[in-house]
Amino acid sequence: MSTPSAPDAEQAYRHLRVEQEGSALVVTIDRPKALNALAGELVDELQDVLARAGAALADGWPFRAVILTGAGGKAFVAGADIREMSAMSPDEAQEYSRRMHRLTLDLERLPVPVVAAVDGYALGGGCELALACDVVFASEAARFGQPEVSLGLVPGFGGSVRLQQRVGPGMARELIFTGRRIDAAEALRIGLVNRVLADRESLLEAARETVELIARQAPTAVANAKLTLGAVAALPTEDGLAVEAASFRDAFTTDDSRAGRAAFLAKETPSFPGR
Ligand code: CAA
Repeated sequence: MSTPSAPDAEQAYRHLRVEQEGSALVVTIDRPKALNALAGELVDELQDVLARAGAALADGWPFRAVILTGAGGKAFVAGADIREMSAMSPDEAQEYSRRMHRLTLDLERLPVPVVAAVDGYALGGGCELALACDVVFASEAARFGQPEVSLGLVPGFGGSVRLQQRVGPGMARELIFTGRRIDAAEALRIGLVNRVLADRESLLEAARETVELIARQAPTAVANAKLTLGAVAALPTEDGLAVEAASFRDAFTTDDSRAGRAAFLAKETPSFPGR
């Protein structure tokens, strides 16, 4: 059986860098001249990376989490590409929104966690891209916001749904109605980010350390937990609990859970087969 590899072994992208670092697949959005704004071509490239990542993971566990970050030192992503949007018809805008929805849903369906490492601006579609990640770490230089109303627009890349889920309806309304930009400390306080690190270096180090911690756990259990958390998020309590019970059952069908339970009883460190 061939060893599964990270999705980018030979693939070159115009606006992305994709590298394997330890257990992490690091995807860097690299369009700094436009502050990493989500041009259509960039969205297609991200979609391609996710498709390749999903295929590689179906064969094994060549990496155990994705780190998504932005290049250039000024921005994670400064939003949808306003230049491209200026020529869009309403129907084209709807299709653009749907494309980003597919991308964010694919991020959520990936069977490994995705850590957003935000350094600089995460505005509009950039904030929405971070919101589709499982975990958001930020540097002190990070700035978040949903400034769409200042352009006469509304959030189109999932913010109407995911910002409320992350920070609650009142705060989501305030941020969307005012377009106000918030700093990393406020983003931490309202639960938009998990952690704030001093600078880019410590940001990426914290992301990598988190991925290595994830890599020590059972791959199928992390995947099961991620998909279960996503599936129950919008369900009433009893329906959510029913999904959880089924996921708990599924965990008992895996070799990973057999290995994990046996290792505990033998007072050994588990070695997970990943199935
Ligand atoms: N789209 C296209 N180009 C962008 C961009 C964007 N979202 N954000 C920045 N750029 C470009 C600028 O046009 C500029 O290009 P030029 O050098 O060719 O003029 C370059 O990036 C550098 O930007 P600035 O000179 O503006 O840099 P600054 O430091 O003065 O300001 C900023 C930084 C505050 C982030 C400012 O660039 C800005 O406000 N950007 C737009 C942010 C925004 O409104 N995002 C939401 C977009 S709408 C959206 O995302 C809808 C949705 O939900 C799907």
